[in-house]
Amino acid sequence: MSVIYNEQNSTITLNTENTSYQMKIGPYGFLLHTYYGPKISGDASVSIVYRDHGFSPNPHDAGRCRDVSADTIPLEYPCEAAGDFRAPALSITADDGTFMADMRYHSHRILQGKYSLEGLPAVYGTDEEAQTLEVTLKDRFSDIFVTLQYGVFPELDVITRAARIENRTAQKIIVKNAASASLDILSGEWDLIHFSGRHAGERTFERVSLSQREELVGTRRGVSSHHQNSFVIIAERNADERYGQCYGMNLLYSGSFSCNAGADAFGSVRAVMGIQPEHFDYPLEPEEIFQAPEIALAYSENGLGSLSRIYHRLIADHVCRGPWKNRPRPVLINNWEATGPYFDGEMIISIAKKAAELGVDMMVLDDGWFGKRDDDYSGLGDWYVNTKKLGCTMGELADQIRSLGMKFGIWIEPEMVNEDSDLYREHPDWALQIPGRDPVLGRSQLVLDFSREEVVDRILDDICKVLDECKADYVKMDMNRPLVDVYSHGSSTQSRGKLQYKYVLGVYRFMEKLLERYPDLLLEGCSSGGGRFDAGMMYYTPQIWCSDNTDAIDRIRIQYGTSFGYPIRTMGAHVSACPNYDTWRSTPINTRAVVAMEGTFGYELDLNHLSDEEKEEVRQQIITFRKYSSLLHNGLYYRLTDVMKNTKEAAWMMVSEDQSEALLNIVVLDVTGNRPERYIRLDGLDRNASYRDTETGIIYPANVLMTTGITIPRVKMSGHDWVRGASLYEAFQIHLEKVDQK
Ligand code: GLA
Repeated sequence: MSVIYNEQNSTITLNTENTSYQMKIGPYGFLLHTYYGPKISGDASVSIVYRDHGFSPNPHDAGRCRDVSADTIPLEYPCEAAGDFRAPALSITADDGTFMADMRYHSHRILQGKYSLEGLPAVYGTDEEAQTLEVTLKDRFSDIFVTLQYGVFPELDVITRAARIENRTAQKIIVKNAASASLDILSGEWDLIHFSGRHAGERTFERVSLSQREELVGTRRGVSSHHQNSFVIIAERNADERYGQCYGMNLLYSGSFSCNAGADAFGSVRAVMGIQPEHFDYPLEPEEIFQAPEIALAYSENGLGSLSRIYHRLIADHVCRGPWKNRPRPVLINNWEATGPYFDGEMIISIAKKAAELGVDMMVLDDGWFGKRDDDYSGLGDWYVNTKKLGCTMGELADQIRSLGMKFGIWIEPEMVNEDSDLYREHPDWALQIPGRDPVLGRSQLVLDFSREEVVDRILDDICKVLDECKADYVKMDMNRPLVDVYSHGSSTQSRGKLQYKYVLGVYRFMEKLLERYPDLLLEGCSSGGGRFDAGMMYYTPQIWCSDNTDAIDRIRIQYGTSFGYPIRTMGAHVSACPNYDTWRSTPINTRAVVAMEGTFGYELDLNHLSDEEKEEVRQQIITFRKYSSLLHNGLYYRLTDVMKNTKEAAWMMVSEDQSEALLNIVVLDVTGNRPERYIRLDGLDRNASYRDTETGIIYPANVLMTTGITIPRVKMSGHDWVRGASLYEAFQIHLEKVDQK
């Protein structure tokens, strides 16, 4: 039993293999959050101090007792109307703006298996793998109910949370804020780690100390965004890769979100995460229900590395679905950086031919194959093939690619429309735009109203016709602008929050239907690179283009940040041409490949333009990727250097689950004369064993590798006896195999 209700002390404890999470039905029916940390038995509420905290308000039902205040006790789902002035999880008003919803414990039930959420992504598991707890709270004075949903995955050390708000009153209410989870931590010094950035610079690791000031991360853009990621960590001040306590909060939602974290006046820390409340104001009619998206919580006392590995496993095995979640991913080549939208069929075939010759598995035709799309000012929405440009039908192009022994895939951007398109001329009211006002443009395009089923259905139908024709093996689904003019011509409410939420559900519905129709399709997410890289999308797209920035050195930092919350097999990563189109930096093609192998691996250039030597390298890279693909994508992932602080080298490694082999990756970021030796300390090996470098034959005791470390290789120069130090941006992959010798 992973969920235990103790009637005697009114506690409900959720146990995983290494953690316990506890709540308690406390004084006056407040649902207290008593504990989340290493496994316990017993009642953790002994650590809660009830006393009159100078002028913190008290519930009326406490009468003359001033010891209990919602403002100072740790709560499971804090709400404003109870007199808690810290960041609320729930905030509801009547239609006239009067605050309501002072939520107290009402009932609970424990169910075998994991709950699912209609229309929303959710972590899944069998009845043996998970249990569900539902705790229902009720407003003291009305029939507003909130059901807190918990999924407990003992083996994964993960607890999921979500919340369902039900209006059983006779009046409309306005849900101003309904977070997915709130976490109160009673003691300690904590930091917030979040992953901020920009287009071409996504998910940069940032760490701020939490103090008596609220830190707010999130986005108002209607998508999970380049600018903040919907994964955060609350880490003890001294926690690092290997040591210290940390909590992860990973939201499975692809729209605007926020996480508010800070300490209160008495030192306890609160983190509240969910849909971004600022634009929310969700009207809930009598009998209507609002379902808040799911969040996956995890705790580790062994540092950030171990927390990340919990999420890697969770997302790979219990969020990603379909046949591709465990299949080796095809090595693909995409024409975007080679051609932009300026191509014809012959150019595509020529790129594909060379790629096939060198061993690439799949050709992906990016933006520009449809409607009038010779630049990015027109054509979106017109999902019919531009046969004039291709010089053939999509079916014929696909046949030609397949005759080279390759699979075939195409790019789409279903949520968008250009004003210069037949679709827009036919249905201007299908775009999100406010009557009487000019809509804001983004890349000269408007957003289609995916809150409307008929819009989703029409786009899906049009795209399916093309997919049927070319029998696509793969689709790259892009989304290249945020939501601004949120107004729906097909809705009775213009609540921005409700429409944005319904929009996100419309996107999920589109992908669900697409996958239902083509169950074997490999769907890759994308949003101007990594602008919608979130766990919600991963329920549909087992890989997501990580960033439009394909510069290997920038990518190291982007993929480093991404690796905290997501497994590397979800990160779309390609080798592109040099100098890099964005940074104008040149790096060796081997380095670009080593970095792309910390992802799904593929190419994004015209291989015809490489030297013969480089072409041979590409052939070898693909062989290497195939050889190690299981280790790369199924192995346990260890960050070995802090790339935000260590500017000399970056290193990471993958270790097979049985610890029999490992792949160490090093990229040199800085060089200097007569360089002191630099040692990289390894991680995750079997300490009682030794490992052989399969190339040099050198045998290392594991403890030496993990304590002293391994030096950055020196390179034997061909045709000489000389050995040189590693050069700038040079990369190394060292494969280690466990040997019997100790
Ligand atoms: C976005 C994507 C790119 C490419 C272009 C096409 O920027 O991130 O990979 O598909 O759109 O327009």
